[in-house]
Amino acid sequence: MSAKLSLEEKFKETGGKKPYVRRLFGRIAGIYDLMNRLMSLGLDPYWRKRAARYLALATGETGLDLGAGTADLSISVIRNSGSDTHMIGMDITPEMLEVGEKKLRRMGLQDRIELRVGDAENIDLPDNSVDGCCSAFTVRNLTNIGRGFSEMLRVVRPGGRVVCLEISHPPGKIFGTLFYLYFYKLAPLFGTILGKAFEEYNYLPNSLTTFPKAPRVKEIMEEAGWSDVRYYYLNGGLVAIHVGTKPE
Ligand SMILES: C[S@@+](CC[C@H](N)C(=O)[O-])C[C@H]1O[C@@H](n2cnc3c(N)ncnc32)[C@H](O)[C@@H]1O
Repeated sequence: MSAKLSLEEKFKETGGKKPYVRRLFGRIAGIYDLMNRLMSLGLDPYWRKRAARYLALATGETGLDLGAGTADLSISVIRNSGSDTHMIGMDITPEMLEVGEKKLRRMGLQDRIELRVGDAENIDLPDNSVDGCCSAFTVRNLTNIGRGFSEMLRVVRPGGRVVCLEISHPPGKIFGTLFYLYFYKLAPLFGTILGKAFEEYNYLPNSLTTFPKAPRVKEIMEEAGWSDVRYYYLNGGLVAIHVGTKPE
C-alpha cells in the first residue's frame, strides 16, 4: 500500500476506516506495548492510571473498556477499583486481544478481566448493563465518534460514568509546536526504525489531524446525552481525559 495515498484514499482501498484500523493494529500487536512505552517516553502507564482513577469502580461493579487492545487500561482500572470488580475489554482486533490474554494469564487477572472481540460503535451488550465505561487511545480510531459515545451511553447504567483518554492538541503555542514536531516527525521515525512499521506509525499523527480538540469532544459527548462532562489535560495537553455521567 503506497504511503503517498491520503488516509481517506487508504481507507477506501481497504474497504473503510474500520477494516483499515483492524489490519493496522493486527500487524503491530506484537510490538504495540513496547512502542507505546518508547514513543510516550514512559508516560502512558501514568496516563492510564489517571483515567482509571476517574472510573474507580465500587465493590462488585463491572466496567467496559472499549478498544481494550492489550488490556493495559482494564488492568489499571482493576488495580484502582474496589474488590470483586470486573472488566469486559472489547476490541475489533483479535491479535491485540491475544497479546492481552497472555498478559492477563501471566498476572493472574483472567478471572477479573474478560476480553472479547466487539465493536465500540455497535456494542454487543444490553442497555444499562455495565456500571461504567472507559477507553484509551480508541475514540480517535472510530468512524463516527458521536455514534461511539451514544453506544457507551446506552450500555452504561443511569448514574454510571464514561472516561475517555485520548491524545490531544496541546493548547500552548511553544509546547504545541514542540509536540507537533515530535508527534508528526520524530514519532513516525521511531516507528519506522524501531518497529519497522512506517505505514502504521505514520497513521498515528494523521489520525490526530482530523480528531477534534478537547472542547469539541466535550460537545460531542453532551450531544450524545452525557451530562456533567469535564475534561482534564495531562502533561500540558499531550493527552486529555474526558469524564461524563449518564443522567439518572
Ligand atoms: C491505540 S490502541 C489502544 C489500545 C489500548 N486501549 C491501550 O490503552 O493501549 C486502539 C485500539 O482500538 C481498537 N479499535 C479501533 N476501532 C475500534 C472499534 N470500532 N471497536 C473496538 N475497538 C476498536 C484497535 O483495534 C486498537 O486495539
